[in-house]
Amino acid sequence: MKMPSLSVEGRVAIVTGARRGMGAAISIALAGAGADLAISDIVADGGELEAVAEKIEALGRRVITIKADATRKREVDHLVKRASDELGFVSILVNNAGGIKPDENKPADVPFHEIPEEDWDRSYDNNFKTCFLCCQSVIKRMVESKKGGSIVNLSSVAAEPRGRGTAYHIGKAAVTRLTSGLAHDYGKFQIRVNAIEPAFTRTEMARNVWESAEVLKQYQALIPLGRIAEPEDIAGLVLFLASDASGFITGQSIVIDGGFLLPHSYEVPDLLAPIKKHRTLSGPKD
Ligand SMILES: NC(=O)c1ccc[n+]([C@@H]2O[C@H](COP(=O)([O-])OP(=O)(O)OC[C@H]3O[C@@H](n4cnc5c(N)ncnc54)[C@H](O)[C@@H]3O)[C@@H](O)[C@H]2O)c1
Repeated sequence: MKMPSLSVEGRVAIVTGARRGMGAAISIALAGAGADLAISDIVADGGELEAVAEKIEALGRRVITIKADATRKREVDHLVKRASDELGFVSILVNNAGGIKPDENKPADVPFHEIPEEDWDRSYDNNFKTCFLCCQSVIKRMVESKKGGSIVNLSSVAAEPRGRGTAYHIGKAAVTRLTSGLAHDYGKFQIRVNAIEPAFTRTEMARNVWESAEVLKQYQALIPLGRIAEPEDIAGLVLFLASDASGFITGQSIVIDGGFLLPHSYEVPDLLAPIKKHRTLSGPKD
């Protein structure tokens, strides 16, 4: 019997948006499990991407850093070509680039009927087009090689039906939908495509959730596990989906939220109380 394994020894992975936050944690986790990495980000000149690369090298893996805006096809194709030419066949893709920029209007601040078209396009493209372009470029090579592969897309609990109608929420819902569609279309090529849907995680994007102890406490109260996620929590699920341990899973969007989306607990009246009372008085005990 073959034992399930989280090893990705000798495989090549691309991670977008890798300079910090979840992308950095995911890259380091994949390297720790044996992968060589092409790590990429739209911001590559502040030293953060290089610092992630150093950690990967310290784990004994090969790594290249590539500056690329994942909303631009030419830059994405260049990223995928360099990763393939310099490291070898790319069998793992993690579409992590995205989020809400600090200078962007918070989705809650602007009602749908007043969102400027360019703001909508920027946010939607950053969260969906990034995923679409990277999938397209990597899947082309996976199909040609006949070697298959595993793709993990960063969606969000924002994609779930109770999410709102902002470009971020709709972009993430599109990521979730693209995931199941591609899994359906490319399963015959042994290409698995899954998404993960995190809730509040301790990264720059969600700084307003954890920066103030008082606000953090309010969020924690909404989460049955009593804490927000750390980037390493997210990295663990991505590693599972990238590895052969999840070899029969495709087309899924897996919520990782500490129980946040579970129906909130509520008090149920004890409808059996009158019966119990009667049985205690005159009937046999349980
Ligand atoms: N933090 C959360 O609570 C949370 C929850 C659900 C989903 N997510 C998703 O997880 C992913 C990672 O977010 P994070 O929390 O680590 O945020 P983050 O802001 O720390 O990291 C996002 C990274 O993506 C990069 N990036 C953004 N647009 C890009 C583009 N067009 N091309 C290339 N790189 C780009 C940024 O420069 C940054 O390094 C995002 O897709 C985000 O939407 C985050």
